Amino acid sequence: MSIIPEQHTSLLSDPTLAHAFPASFLWGAATAAYQIEGAASEDGRGSSIWDDFAATPGKTAQGESGAVAADHYHRVDADTDLMVQLGLGGYRFSLAWPRILPQGRGTVNPAGLDFYDRLVDTLLAKGITPFATLYHWDLPSPLQQAGGWVNRDTAYAFADYADLVTQRLGDRVAGWITLNEPWCSSYLGYGNGVHAPGIQNRQAAIDAAHHLLLAHGLAVPRIKANVAANVQVGITLNLNHVYGADERPETRRDVQISDDFSNGWFLDPLFRGHYPTNFFANMGTAEPPIQEGDLALISTPIDFLGVNYYSRSLIRGAATQPLPDRCESVSPVPGSCYTEMGWEIYPQGLQDLLVRIHRDYAVPNLYVTENGAAFKDVWDGNEPVRDPRRIDYLNSHISAVAGAIKEGVPMRGYFVWSLIDNFEWAEGYGKRFGIIYIDYPTQRRVFKESGHWYQALLSAFRDAHQQ
Ligand code: FCB
Repeated sequence: MSIIPEQHTSLLSDPTLAHAFPASFLWGAATAAYQIEGAASEDGRGSSIWDDFAATPGKTAQGESGAVAADHYHRVDADTDLMVQLGLGGYRFSLAWPRILPQGRGTVNPAGLDFYDRLVDTLLAKGITPFATLYHWDLPSPLQQAGGWVNRDTAYAFADYADLVTQRLGDRVAGWITLNEPWCSSYLGYGNGVHAPGIQNRQAAIDAAHHLLLAHGLAVPRIKANVAANVQVGITLNLNHVYGADERPETRRDVQISDDFSNGWFLDPLFRGHYPTNFFANMGTAEPPIQEGDLALISTPIDFLGVNYYSRSLIRGAATQPLPDRCESVSPVPGSCYTEMGWEIYPQGLQDLLVRIHRDYAVPNLYVTENGAAFKDVWDGNEPVRDPRRIDYLNSHISAVAGAIKEGVPMRGYFVWSLIDNFEWAEGYGKRFGIIYIDYPTQRRVFKESGHWYQALLSAFRDAHQQ
């Protein structure tokens, strides 16, 4: 029986929610290296495309960068203590490629590997299962100078990096995620340029996506060769269920186009070995430079799919067929609530998405590897920071995961985004996703009420399974 204060148990509006999850279900929280670590030029770390992008005027809110972030690099002990206090079963973090290989390939920076080695050992000593993402967007700058993901060589450099890391840590990490959200790395990075490296070229986005998928496919067998049979290897995609606003044929057409763009672009090659029909023609681009054997590699069976879910799309058909990234979406949706990111809150979309992935792609194991919300959190000096809307968001989305389990979807875990407030990419520090608040001037960690809510849920889960 775990002890938590009375007022925390009462935070659970549905005390039976925890019972809907099997005993083996992994409850965690997620972060990413560039968003929390800071120490950007310490201990031999090389620079990444995000350092370069943030240093370019006008690219991030107020020119903010991850140079200091939540200073996690120096606070591993305290931050892992917070995880223990929350009662987390798992922690999903990412490794900074430029900390380990400052040039992207070649000479290894031992201090970089040592940092993650210590993090993993610390987690294990505290009873927390490590889930590691190899690439969460921080491509070493020298690789970008050689073309970045548009250059096929980057895929081979990634596979070598994955091999190196898993040789060292493969024995202690339970789950390896090759890439986080390659849709964002390719489309936001090379297509519309709102993320690093800030390139605006549709064909570059298509080519980058193919090389990201190839990187994944090349890495999977290299990782597998370094880890025990029970270690899982997978990938994380950002997916959103696409709905039609009406029944018109134009709407059905645009729902399909939009779904291919948001979901099929990555799901189809990974699980079916081909890109969606007409995808490149619809995008108005040529095919990427696919070489023989690429799609077989890309569709190498994996152990799990990680789903990052934040919102849905509601599409209204246009008179003439739009480009996939210009489909008309209903926004704002009358009666809907929105987060600080401007994302519609739609928990049913998570359940529908998980059920659909299970039905259409027969993925053996599914995790929600990110889910959460940014709201305006204000710390008045007292603990906890009040964030009732985040509690509602988490409660409704975790209920949606329970709904998917009821419908037979093989859900294995859920990671809240995020453990702590952090550098939200182009949005800087203004968007707070943490269940623990960061007071950046002092780096003080302050529980939000949602942190206590999650703690109560996990405690109820342990009680339900008498762990
Ligand atoms: C996802 C990213 C993650 C975080 C959330 C809000 O797209 O993977 O790093 O920024 O969005």
